[in-house]
This record gives sequence, structure tokens and C-alpha cells, in this order.
Amino acid sequence: MAERSQQGFPPRTASYEADPEQVHRVLLLYSGGLDTSVMLKWIQDSYDAEVVCLTVNLGQPGEDYEVIRDKALRLGALDCHVVDAREEFAREYIAPAIKANALYGGGYPLFTALGRPLIAKLAVDYARRSGADTIAHGCTGKGNDQVRIEATVATLAPELRTIAPVRSWQMGREEEIAYAREHGIPVKGGAESAPYSIDDNLWGRSSEGRWIEDLAHAPEDDVFQLVTRPELAPEEPENVEVEFERGVPIALDGERLGLVELIERAAQIAARHGVGIIDHIEDRIVGLKVRDIYEAPAAAILLPAHQDLERLVGTIHQNQFKPQLDHHWAYLVYAGLWWEPLRSDLDAYMDAVNEQVTGTIGLKLYRGGARVITRSSPNAVYDASLASFEQSGGLFSQTASPGFIELFSLQSRMAWRLRNRY
Ligand code: ARG
Repeated sequence: MAERSQQGFPPRTASYEADPEQVHRVLLLYSGGLDTSVMLKWIQDSYDAEVVCLTVNLGQPGEDYEVIRDKALRLGALDCHVVDAREEFAREYIAPAIKANALYGGGYPLFTALGRPLIAKLAVDYARRSGADTIAHGCTGKGNDQVRIEATVATLAPELRTIAPVRSWQMGREEEIAYAREHGIPVKGGAESAPYSIDDNLWGRSSEGRWIEDLAHAPEDDVFQLVTRPELAPEEPENVEVEFERGVPIALDGERLGLVELIERAAQIAARHGVGIIDHIEDRIVGLKVRDIYEAPAAAILLPAHQDLERLVGTIHQNQFKPQLDHHWAYLVYAGLWWEPLRSDLDAYMDAVNEQVTGTIGLKLYRGGARVITRSSPNAVYDASLASFEQSGGLFSQTASPGFIELFSLQSRMAWRLRNRY
């Protein structure tokens, strides 16, 4: 069937991309949305291939997985597996991100970037299990997600190939809708105006597209579907206490919770108070600079709480050093290199530091803000009697301070003199 490669398929660029004649059974990462529904039909028609679907639940709110599965089966999928990966996502991906205080570009808590390697790993598992030769995803050629998914597949399963129809078929939204109508694919909602491009999971939600691309355009109210707009948040502030054990949150307001539930509850509390809105200019790995509107309420309280506790239990040297590693960790994960050994090397360091990160942090939430107000830890490198303005007795000798200052500033003073010639 070599002639299939001539029928409008672009020549492949990377070794892991599938040639049309290699495609017989495809594992499709299926969301139930327009792109992947059109793909489901299009792959069967254009490649004359069978399609098995995989839908992964990472805690995105408001999904009906039965409906998604039925839709896939009606559109001709051999099968549609729905996997609830929330526990694994929380434990193996979000917890390490908390330990690494993970924010990319100063504000993005990486929820999509953390989810993609897990989704792609599950795609590999299910492709192997169902005898698929190829994995298909719905990412465009302009985003980071294609990098994360294909890097994962190429790393974990060199025997599998990938296809990314949305990247190659050059259909616009109008054409996709026309294709859907023609092929009996139900199109959700009105087809009139393009919706925001949304991605979400347990750890946050992103919106892109429409007016968001106009940097001079302030956020319209309808973009916020998770977090209450601060101006509508309650008049009364609310305090919340987060307890950590070895860097991982284990209880909210004294109630011990599994990590998934804890994240969900933290998200609810923060969202109610307008906490977790991030209007972010971002440098994508593929070169583009874009604007994203994020709603990440759970991250907006758990990350600052963790960071504050970590600072309390760390020494000045640890506290000076770790942010550099945190920064690098976030960059690697953003860039789709989850399986890079440097990431697990860094995790070993994160785990070592977080051995001490046990204790409780109290935050005050009020109209868009979350501020740490109380701290306690058995491991705090803190002694109130030493820090006090009151006399602290023998442990800290104030008479030793001038000697310290003399030696500590020695080189700086010498250099100043040299530069100012006296
Ligand atoms: N800018 C974020 C990232 O690169 C969010 C991407 C959202 N993805 C999507 N397919 N809508 O991780």
C-alpha cells in the first residue's frame, strides 16, 4: 500500500512519525471534543485503519465519561477505554511539583505540562495492550503539548509511531465543523463563534484564544469558570490551615484527606475567595510568546504554603540554593522532558530537602489574595528566644556581632577601597 503515502499525507520529518502504510491500528487520545471526534472518523477513512480510543480522567470537572465513550463507539471506535488516573496524577506528578514549588515563567503551575506525560504514558500502555502500531493525539503544531506527548511516546515506546492529524490536515474550524456535519459527528453547542481553547485537570485550567490573543484586552468575565471573580468574592475573609508531611499536604483545617480530595477541597475554598487567577505571558518551547489565562485555585494556596514551610525548616544555604533547582525542574517539565534523568536527579534532591518539610501553615484568603499568616513545624530552624528583640542570654552573643561584621565585609571593603583609591 505504498501509494497511500502519496495521497495528500505530508512526508514525515521525524523517525517516530508513522508513514501511512505503517498505520493499521491506532490508539487515539480521545477527549470527545470536536478535534478528536473528527480525527476518529478521519483516521478510519484516510488510513483505512482501526481506532481504539483512550480517555484519561485527570480530574477535569464536569466530564461525563459515559457520554464520551458512547460517542467514540458510535463514531466507529473498536473500543474506548476510560481511565481514572487521578490518584496517580496527584501522587506521582502533582506531589513532586509541590516539593519543587513548581511554577514556570514565574506564574504557571504546570497543570497541563504535568498531565501530558502521564496521558502519553497511558497511551503507550493501552496501545501495547490493544495491539496498536500508532498513537494519535489532537495537538496542534504550535503548542507545547505535541512536544510533551511525542517526546514521551518516542522515549517509552520506540516501537510505536505517532500521528498528529490536526497538525497536518490543515482544516480550519469551519472545515472541521463541515466535516463533522457530513460524517454525522455531533457538534456540541453553537458552531457560530469559536470557543476559548480550554485545558483542565485537578491542578488547574487554562484558557487561550479569542480576545486573550489581544494583549491590550483586559479579561472578560466569562473566561472565569472555576474561580469566583475577586470583586464577587465574600466580604468576609476565611482562614485555612494546610498540614504537610515531608513536603506533601496531608490535611486541611485539621482533617486528614487523600491527596486528590485535598486538592479538590483546597480548590473549592480558594475559588470561592477569588484566589488563583493568573494572566500570564509565556514563552512556549516551540518559540512562540503567548498569553494564557489560568485558574489554579488549589495551586495558589498549596504552593505558597509549601514554599513558606520549606523556608522555615531550611537553612540559609538550602534556601538560597533550592530555588535555582526548582526553576530548572519547572523548565524541564514545561519543556516536555519528564523522562529526562536530570528530572529524577533533581527529584532526589527535592525529596532530601522535603524530608524536613513537616508542619502546618495557616493562610488568610480574601478577595483574590492568599497570605500566609501562621506557621508551625517541629523542624523549624527557628528559636523565638534567639530571634527576639528581648535579651536572649548566652546562645546568641551580641558582643560577637562586630567581629563577624569585620570579617564578613573584609573583601567587599578592600574592593571598594581599590575602586575608590583611598
Ligand atoms: N500554556 C500551557 C502549557 O503549555 C497550557 C496549554 C494548554 N493546552 C491546550 N491544549 N489547550 O502547558
